Amino acid sequence: MLSTEEIKGIEEAIGVVPYKKAACIEALKVVQQHRKWISDESLKEVAGYMEMSAEELDSVATFYNLIFRQPVGRHVILVCDSISCWVMGQEKLKEKLNERLQIDYGQTTKDGRFTLLPNPCLGTCDCAPAIMVGNDLYRNIKMDGLDEILNKYE
Ligand code: FES
Repeated sequence: MLSTEEIKGIEEAIGVVPYKKAACIEALKVVQQHRKWISDESLKEVAGYMEMSAEELDSVATFYNLIFRQPVGRHVILVCDSISCWVMGQEKLKEKLNERLQIDYGQTTKDGRFTLLPNPCLGTCDCAPAIMVGNDLYRNIKMDGLDEILNKYE
């Protein structure tokens, strides 16, 4: 069942679009903020509230890569894998993350601390390579500065 806070957030999102369905991604984001990911049950609850079928909402949810349909760690690391970051050493950065966290894309560390995901351009191509950890954007990453970034997150 959607919580009062979730309903409040969803209603706010609906309030700024011309019709209810147009807020479906925002509605999923609101619920994800509270539950960390969108389970099948959460998806059905949101679909019911948005007057959509679960299948219709799932097709949106699975298209949008920042809606997590599987459990994720406490912090999701998005590694930009687009051209500027690739040219500026993204592959080495990813290798270092793989080695440091002992996970590959789509996986979560055993302690549930991090999930690692690839992401198309993070919108800061002039400061490549870039990653995001949760809502924090890191640019111009140097290999020897990676541990310092990771150590900020419990
Ligand atoms: S290519 Fe990495 S931020 Fe744009």
